[in-house]
Amino acid sequence: MARSKVTVVGAGNVGATCAHWIVSRELADVVLIDIVEGLPQGKALDLAQSAPVMGFDLNIVGANNYEATAGSDVVVITAGVPRKKDPVTGKFPSRDELVKTNQKIVGEVTRQVAKYSPNAILVVVSNPLDAMCHVVLQESGFPSERVIGQAGALDTARYKTFLAQELGVSVRDIHGIVLGGHGDTMVPLPRHTSVAGIPVRELLAEDKLQAIIQRTRNGGGEIVGLIGVSAWYAPAAGTVEMVEAILKDQKRVIPSAVYLRGEYGYNGLYIGIPALLGAKGVERVIVMDLNDDEKAMLDISAKAVQDVVNILGY
Ligand code: APR
Repeated sequence: MARSKVTVVGAGNVGATCAHWIVSRELADVVLIDIVEGLPQGKALDLAQSAPVMGFDLNIVGANNYEATAGSDVVVITAGVPRKKDPVTGKFPSRDELVKTNQKIVGEVTRQVAKYSPNAILVVVSNPLDAMCHVVLQESGFPSERVIGQAGALDTARYKTFLAQELGVSVRDIHGIVLGGHGDTMVPLPRHTSVAGIPVRELLAEDKLQAIIQRTRNGGGEIVGLIGVSAWYAPAAGTVEMVEAILKDQKRVIPSAVYLRGEYGYNGLYIGIPALLGAKGVERVIVMDLNDDEKAMLDISAKAVQDVVNILGY
């Protein structure tokens, strides 16, 4: 069986860590692309030199142009400017303030990627996530089932981590889901959260649960506050979970930013919902039966996404 090929655009923290998880799980050959000369080549070389120790047989190359990416099965787009403290004002830009800068970067990247890998499935990671999905959809001209945003995989992982820590149980026994936009308005669903099937509210007091929901909403900001730049291990892990589902045609149900056409009452908008991911990309949009409160929260989230999408000017 021919090996799969994954291109990761952006060899920064998230991109390089994606490459790292991809090869350590032996999923595919990897091409790492960045605009900075030497960076993707150097990181690819370093990662390749770990192969004899880690025991994987894969090609890992770095480049500043897109020829080497030709024929990729999946392309992960992490290029962009992350949330970073402004050295002059000492302030952090909000995720949404990055929209214009990253629209330009992600637009350029997408045109190149689409040219060299016209059949690829594109997994978008660059922020502001939901808006960047619109940029990639627009600039690639790909059908929407092949343009998917990574948001819920990370947000759900953070939610599960906090719950497992609070309850003192294995992370593997926490089942839950986070919907909505990738931002402060994300919608964790405690009604659909369980510990090995036991509703979480039977095991955790409401105030503690609400504190965890709040911490999940602020999950990215908490790490930016600690390190000074945005996170990379968990974002990359969430991304690679999606990449694996696609490459192995796993039919995993992973909350992802998906282009909706009327589902959940939204039309023409990327929003985080449970998606069935397989070889064709988004193979099914799963429509959950939300109650009024949950739908109201999702509406707030959708409005926040729409506000950022409006800045794009499409
Ligand atoms: N083409 C290719 N690479 C680019 C381009 C471009 N036009 N513009 C910027 N890059 C590269 C940068 O050189 C950098 O190496 O994208 C990389 C981004 O890496 P980091 O700055 O380390 O940012 P990171 O933490 O990896 O986050 C990347 O993912 O989670 C999101 O919010 C995050 O939007 C951000 C993205």
